[in-house]
Amino acid sequence: MSELIYFDNNATTAIAPEVLEAMLPYLSAQYANPSSMYSFAAVSQDALIVAHEQVAALLGAKPGETMMTSCGTEGDSTAIYAALEAQPDKRRFITTRVEHPAVLAVGQHLEKKGYDVVYLDVDAKGRLDLDQLRDSLNGNTALVSVMFANNEVGNIYPVAEIGALCRERGVPFHTDAVQAVGKVPINLADLPVDYLSLSGHKLHAPKGVGCLYIRVGAPYRPFLRGGHQEYGRRAGTQAVPNIVALGKACELARQHLEEENTRVRALRDDLQARLLAVIPDAIVNGDQEQRLPNTLNISFKYVEGEAILLMLDQYNICASSGSACTSGSLEPSHELRAMGVPFTYAHGSLRLSLSRYTSQADVDAVVDRLPAIIARLRELSPYRNLPESIDPGSCEACGACAG
Ligand SMILES: Cc1ncc(COP(=O)(O)O)c(C=O)c1O
Repeated sequence: MSELIYFDNNATTAIAPEVLEAMLPYLSAQYANPSSMYSFAAVSQDALIVAHEQVAALLGAKPGETMMTSCGTEGDSTAIYAALEAQPDKRRFITTRVEHPAVLAVGQHLEKKGYDVVYLDVDAKGRLDLDQLRDSLNGNTALVSVMFANNEVGNIYPVAEIGALCRERGVPFHTDAVQAVGKVPINLADLPVDYLSLSGHKLHAPKGVGCLYIRVGAPYRPFLRGGHQEYGRRAGTQAVPNIVALGKACELARQHLEEENTRVRALRDDLQARLLAVIPDAIVNGDQEQRLPNTLNISFKYVEGEAILLMLDQYNICASSGSACTSGSLEPSHELRAMGVPFTYAHGSLRLSLSRYTSQADVDAVVDRLPAIIARLRELSPYRNLPESIDPGSCEACGACAG
């Protein structure tokens, strides 16, 4: 098998060697429970304190505002349920149609429990209409949750403006920043955000660790009850090796932010420009003005994204055609559906996401292979000879059943 060419960094990232090195002692000699009272445990306790400081430094958070979690999903759930439980009289929850399932599924669950859940719409580029948010905020609103950056197309949302609107109306604001942390600068000292969730495995730490930022004074109730860990806000013995790893990853992310926004962005732009130049009937999805520097979501007319992935896999190229959580279904991702991407394009979407370990040679490999793959798939496409007037999603186009 040829060398791995990895373009799926929005799904997960490689552990940085420095991160692995930092966590290893806590997987071997330093195994103490950090809550224990002897000096052996103080080593682990100190390591946790350092990790909190490293995460806080990347976010511009104050001491005591970070709470370690097991993943981004836990951070999202904790923030939402905590804010709602702390304000039992308020029954409205506002979010968007393009959130990750870690937020959308909570919204659906809240609907079943009788909450009034508002899903804000997006336009064809996946952008929000802040007037719709303004009109939706009322005295019954317990929380607004809008992602910092979208995992599928990379759109960056106007978190400062959204937070300001919420603050004007006295409504707490949560942002899922799982895809943004480490890729774009975030300074919570200046941002009107009350809760922010992040996940270690998206920024070169291992899977199984994350952090929830909780602004001092934000409404809060613990999600996990039991011991007094994490300053009484999350019970459960801390995963010391993973937390140390997250701290180190955040320290490295601070050092590499500049690179993410120059070298990685330049590689992504090169990839995009060269693919568009050689492959006809291709469109870039999302908002190219406000986009993560590492993400390219591109759709090819008349092909299936899953077929592209299988053919790329033959060259050991890893990419995605929908978030890992939705793959397995042949439906285009809910983000592309919310944006109204035409059927003939939405099915042929490909997400290529880069990282600090992506090289020019990796980009060249995709540009070498992909045009022939798309051409081959188009030859096989049942849709390619359909007249433009027939919707390929219609019964008329399919004709497989008599009715
Ligand atoms: C935007 C966003 N939120 C939440 C999550 C869930 O994070 P985790 O896998 O750490 O639970 C992801 C993972 O892909 C994500 O992209």
